[in-house]
Amino acid sequence: MTEKAVNLVLMGFGNVGKAFVKLLEEKTDHLRESHGLSLFLRAIFKSTGGLFPCAGFKLKDILDDPGADLRVHAFWKQNLSLESIVREVEPGVLVDCTPSNLKTGEPGLTHARLALDSGWHVVTANKGPLAVNFSGLREKASRNRLALKFSGAAAAALPALDVGLCSLAGAEVLAVEGILNGTTNFILTEMGEGRSYSEAVQEARVRGIAEPDPASDVEGWDTAVKLLLIGNAVMGLNLRLSDISVEGIVGLPAELIDRARREGKSVKLLGRIRREQGGITASVAPCVIDHSHPLFGVEGTAKGITYFTDTMGDVTLTGGKSDPRGAAAAVLKDIINIYHP
Ligand code: HSE
Repeated sequence: MTEKAVNLVLMGFGNVGKAFVKLLEEKTDHLRESHGLSLFLRAIFKSTGGLFPCAGFKLKDILDDPGADLRVHAFWKQNLSLESIVREVEPGVLVDCTPSNLKTGEPGLTHARLALDSGWHVVTANKGPLAVNFSGLREKASRNRLALKFSGAAAAALPALDVGLCSLAGAEVLAVEGILNGTTNFILTEMGEGRSYSEAVQEARVRGIAEPDPASDVEGWDTAVKLLLIGNAVMGLNLRLSDISVEGIVGLPAELIDRARREGKSVKLLGRIRREQGGITASVAPCVIDHSHPLFGVEGTAKGITYFTDTMGDVTLTGGKSDPRGAAAAVLKDIINIYHP
């Protein structure tokens, strides 16, 4: 197999960014042997500066193990500019793992625009830029003949986009229902087993599933953005966040969850899009479902989605790891698929 060398720049060095670096290290041989890819991390940026490889730089040196901070400092250069890196280094893929700001899209929006204007593909786990300017970024990527991939932002390890875009090609998706947020599904499952809401939120944070500000999970916005991405990418819609009616699980009475359980039912935070005669309706809300619903058995941190189609019937997929490693793996998958679609 001919080998292709690809440069990467990583934005963000939080849970997902670190998990991504760890995967690059772990999968080096697999990427070369199975996909003919050698991925070179040329720089890492976080809010306080940029890390660039100099003599002795090894991926394993910057991973999150005891003493790693000291070694990180040895390579850290303040004020390294993304602009200079994307202009001076042979273009490859900009990987965005910075936190999602659903109001401004920043800093990811600026990164993505700069990369796409400089010949770099973009793979993002950051929902912010897409929530704020989905169509603008897609147009820019397409005009410049570059890839803009966002599995890591859409449902991460659950391959909702791949199935919708690839496996359902030729079918019309009439409606979508999804459990798209691992944190809230975990909280609802734990509450069903008698745990309190606040204990369950805390546990989701410890597991690294919850967003840095879990309000985005529990108020339903994380589900709403994922729904927007799936609706726009797979159903060809042009949804904005303001088009989606959003209700989260804050203040949901424990009694409702108990009663559903006693009746053999379950409460799930569902994201839904339907094509109806008058147009499109999109919503996020807690719903009581029973065993006849295809997502009934999706428990804990698992996610799931059902596509209702005109020619292929209902197609459901469930599972996928909801943690930083799962999100990082979705990012890596997107990179591989740019070069080997
Ligand atoms: N906080 C998200 C979730 C993970 O719980 O699903 C990233 O999307």
